[in-house]
Amino acid sequence: MTSLLIHGGTIVRPTGDERADLLIDEGTIREVNVRTTGPRKLLAADQTIEANGQLLFPGFIDAHVHFREPGMEQKGTMESESQSAVAGGVTVVCDMPNTNPPTVSIAALKEKVRIAESIFACDIRFFFGVTQREHLQELQRLCSDVSLAPLRARCCGVKLYLDHSTGNQKVDQDIVHDIFHTCAELQLPIVAHCEDPVLNARAAKLNARDDIATHSVIRAPESEQRAITTAVEIAKETGAHLHVAHLSTKRGVELIAQAKSDGLSVTCEVAPHHLFLSTEDYEELGSFAKMNPPLRTPDHCEALWHGIENGTIDCVASDHAPHTLEEKQVSPSLKAPSGVPGVETMIPLLLTVAAGRWPHPQHRAFAPKLLYTDIRRLCFDNPNRIFSLGLNMIEQGSPANLVLVNPEEEWELQGSHLHSKCGWTPYEGWKVTGKATVVGRW
Ligand code: DOR
Ligand code: ZN
Repeated sequence: MTSLLIHGGTIVRPTGDERADLLIDEGTIREVNVRTTGPRKLLAADQTIEANGQLLFPGFIDAHVHFREPGMEQKGTMESESQSAVAGGVTVVCDMPNTNPPTVSIAALKEKVRIAESIFACDIRFFFGVTQREHLQELQRLCSDVSLAPLRARCCGVKLYLDHSTGNQKVDQDIVHDIFHTCAELQLPIVAHCEDPVLNARAAKLNARDDIATHSVIRAPESEQRAITTAVEIAKETGAHLHVAHLSTKRGVELIAQAKSDGLSVTCEVAPHHLFLSTEDYEELGSFAKMNPPLRTPDHCEALWHGIENGTIDCVASDHAPHTLEEKQVSPSLKAPSGVPGVETMIPLLLTVAAGRWPHPQHRAFAPKLLYTDIRRLCFDNPNRIFSLGLNMIEQGSPANLVLVNPEEEWELQGSHLHSKCGWTPYEGWKVTGKATVVGRW
């Protein structure tokens, strides 16, 4: 393995920027030579990257992906979707349990870990799914049997679907309290898909239309709000850590802010599609804008950006959910499966906002403020802490998990050039500013 010198880049740290030269050897950071005004230590290596004007981040984390393996390999595999992640500057992902078989048993988790072990591009962690009581028993065994410690180390938490979505993983309502109690005891975070099954079913019954915009009506904002209220109440009662997945509504942001100010152990994430797309995009995108929770009106997008600015929102995570073109192109479009790919486009879209530009070619609601340190907080420091991923900072002796960003490079998002097996993106033709390249891992 050759040694590598990254010369003159700027490390983006939570405390501010730091210009430094980095020497990497055997996949480890050997030296971090901070540039001060005094004489500089000269470092030499087999290969040098001139990184003047470029930014260095730890490899980004995407804490919410659906990599589809096993069982849905026509949509994506761990290998194909890992390539997509890395091409977008993401080196660590947390994969959801709605595969086939679902990750609701030790055997299913073992099989996923076995596949992931042959994938070097990306570090894949797994959420455990619980829909029935026996899955909870499996989870308890996973956490108590010492011989299962290596498997437990790959499990980053429990995923709870409060209503149906792709994969029919809706939890049995009778065991929701027990799941929270058990996770509090085991100190595992619960990631909750917050939509209310009763409100959703009622709205679906009342709506006879089949145009795609109906999707946002039959899974209305009130449904998310009610589910979050219920989940926060149970988190309060049990002391479990609740992480609300893909927050999409204004009231949802307010509820999380309230829970935080009440001192509860509650965090949340938002997905790029809820930040950059709205119900105004249905006309152009049709079923390629269908996901759960659905797109909202632009005032909700604005509230999510404010939630990022004021720190209520802890993470941005893509909810990368590839489906094939054929699956998406059914008629009527409302019958298409829910979900959009996003692991490769998340960081470029955020970098574009940090560069002071708005990537959507048509709609511009307002100008959000985002700093490069915010991207680091949202896509590294916070998910690393919330899911106890144990990833290192950029420091001497750490594994070289690094992303180099050229903040000025302008390029265009094109589904056919992206790496996900699905071959499409809802952001087709969007101009982005900022290119992230994974360096130093090989
Ligand atoms: O849009 C979605 N797609 N939401 C989910 O909850 C699941 C996901 C998928 O797996 O396709
Ligand atoms: Zn998801």
